Amino acid sequence: MTSEPIIIAVDGPAASGKGTLARRLAAHFDYAYLDTGSLYRALAFDVLRRGEAPENASAGLRAAKALDLAMLNDPDILAALRTDAVGTAASLIAAQPDTRTAILQIQRDIADTPPDDKAGAVLDGRDIGTIVCPQAAHKIFVTARAEIRAERRWQELHQHDPQVSLKEVLADLESRDQRDSARATAPMRAAQDAHLLDTSDLSIEEAFAAALALVSH
Ligand code: C5P
Repeated sequence: MTSEPIIIAVDGPAASGKGTLARRLAAHFDYAYLDTGSLYRALAFDVLRRGEAPENASAGLRAAKALDLAMLNDPDILAALRTDAVGTAASLIAAQPDTRTAILQIQRDIADTPPDDKAGAVLDGRDIGTIVCPQAAHKIFVTARAEIRAERRWQELHQHDPQVSLKEVLADLESRDQRDSARATAPMRAAQDAHLLDTSDLSIEEAFAAALALVSH
């Protein structure tokens, strides 16, 4: 490819709808898509599987150095990464500066050289517009009220685990948001030049139309 790839950065808190929007934007423009949360979740999955503590920075760093992106092509592993326990461990690991540095380049490589010679890439996460790709052509920070996000996440988790309660999901989500926005390194934050998109009262179609309008001018 000759020209610089177009990058769309989609950030926001857990279950804000950013993943769905980012995936749809990528399909619409035929760009590559990277769910950067799945990288942190993959580290968490590895750390937990080894019986290590997610708070242990050397465990996170070891997992980052050994990260095999091919595991993200396995639907069974992807499903295992979606649990709340993995999300919480991912957030503990994501607060560790050396571990973040170790996977920063993986994200930038995909943005700089999108696979399959695509003309652009859509990355979703917490720090795409601020740290990973501050040069992104378009930045959207997706939000929604915590109760609405918890309900969405509960609907998703409940299909696999009927025991999971909405109250528990809301508490996990709020503590994860708090940790992600309070950490010293690359906290979750809207870039100054990001467009804010509140999806609380929007259907998926309405949210997608709004996101498309934001990146189309
Ligand atoms: O987006 P998702 O909920 O899958 O992310 C899991 C965790 O990974 C987040 O709670 C956050 O701590 C971390 N993360 C991050 N930076 C990103 C993407 C995810 O710190 N760019």
